[in-house]
Amino acid sequence: MKISIIGAGYVGLVTGTCFSELGHEVVVVDINEEKVKAINSKKCPIYEPGLEEMLVRNVDSKRLRATTDIKDVVMNTDVTYIAVGTPMKEDRSIDLRYIEKASEDIGNVLKEKAGYHLVVVKSTVVPGTTENIVGATISKISGKKLGTEFGIAMNPEFLREGSAVEDFMKPDRIVIGANDEKARSILEEIYKKIDAPKLYVNIKTAEMIKYASNTFLATKISFINEIGNICKLLGINVFDVVKGMTLDHRISPYFLRAGIGFGGSCFPKDTNAIIALAKKLGYVPRLLDAVVEINETQPLRAVELLKKHISLKGKNIGVLGLAFKPNTDDVRETRAYPIIRALNEEGAVVYAYDPKAMDAFKKAYPDVKVIFCKSAEEVLKNAEAIIIATEWDEFEKLSYRNKIVVDGRYVKAAKETAKIYEGVCW
Ligand code: NAD
Ligand code: UGA
Repeated sequence: MKISIIGAGYVGLVTGTCFSELGHEVVVVDINEEKVKAINSKKCPIYEPGLEEMLVRNVDSKRLRATTDIKDVVMNTDVTYIAVGTPMKEDRSIDLRYIEKASEDIGNVLKEKAGYHLVVVKSTVVPGTTENIVGATISKISGKKLGTEFGIAMNPEFLREGSAVEDFMKPDRIVIGANDEKARSILEEIYKKIDAPKLYVNIKTAEMIKYASNTFLATKISFINEIGNICKLLGINVFDVVKGMTLDHRISPYFLRAGIGFGGSCFPKDTNAIIALAKKLGYVPRLLDAVVEINETQPLRAVELLKKHISLKGKNIGVLGLAFKPNTDDVRETRAYPIIRALNEEGAVVYAYDPKAMDAFKKAYPDVKVIFCKSAEEVLKNAEAIIIATEWDEFEKLSYRNKIVVDGRYVKAAKETAKIYEGVCW
């Protein structure tokens, strides 16, 4: 099948590359010329294990290319995926401006295109968006009739950064949201080579499945952090508690790692987006409000714990890990940021290191003062006390001797070797 994908970010590029690996002919479109150039010269613009090799293979075999020209690609493909960002606005509701722009662009091309074209939303969008914004905009601008001259569908993405390719090629499930048979059968064809349970639902339900999944996982994390905070007061290791809990077959062990909370480009913004939508509809989601609140105070607990052992003013404090989780260079909503901001406010001098995310952190958070180090050892050499914010494997190989360590992620080497060791929830 000939597929175009608008947005060559994490999701768009992984989707495009994996579709081409499955044998489809794919063009990814992005407004960012540098990204487009990089892809066409076989350089992966993001760090994602396994992606670059797959990209090189498929650009070489001419099944994958990138462009900034949306007109050309919509004209010459059968299906267009929308994978642009859906960030959070100041008021914490979803910002749909990129979705609106992509829909307008598609509408303008479809005005001139003969024959049926399917538009699939892969971005995470609040229920109602695919029909009321994407479908309605395309229909209005192109003058085409929804259902016969063009179709819409919603196909949420569940991949995780750091294991995106594996998650895409071997997913737990594929959710296909379509309101008519034609759109549904095209999506079935696109995914026919992937062996996974496929769930067919209407569009709004598909949109909600994505939010319910992400907010449930976020809730598990805030739940275990709350239990962990109580454990800490009682001198109990929450990881031992989790072992006991998850022997119950009804409690799955995943996403119960307590620590300094969830970051990343999705859990924080998606939880806030569904809260904002619910409130707009007149319902106050108290549980989800609490999930966000716990997550916002959780990283600051690391700084409070450190203050029990050392006064921070003028002291050299190390932060190990800046990415929102290991194996990525993504720093969006990283818990390291509120920690460093608080350390700055306390007057500490912050030394930090991350194996992949230092450049991204410098760019994203120019407001905080950090001395970036070339290695974790350099941080340990300079700092009297350490906060571990991301559990990179290499932090397990360090000796934390003579250091005060507050561990936000459960790094065993720190627990075993530090002079003074405090786990956030253990
Ligand atoms: P991203 O910011 O990495 O990528 C978005 C890309 O879209 C950017 O490269 C941007 O330049 C491009 N873009 C914006 N407007 C455009 C336009 N009009 N035409 C062409 N290109 C345009 O975002 P992402 O992380 O890939 O997320 C995309 C969507 O997928 C979001 O809704 C997100 O919630 C969802 N999602 C993300 C993940 C993840 O792990 N990152 C997982 C599942 C779902
Ligand atoms: C998450 C979901 O796991 C994906 O299924 C989803 O597709 C994606 O969001 C999305 O919609 O964008 P991702 O943000 O890449 O994926 O990362 P996760 O591995 O889920 O981790 C998110 C955050 O939660 C990280 O900061 C991580 O450190 C934290 N976390 C995770 C915990 O604190 N405890 C856990 O037990 C698990």
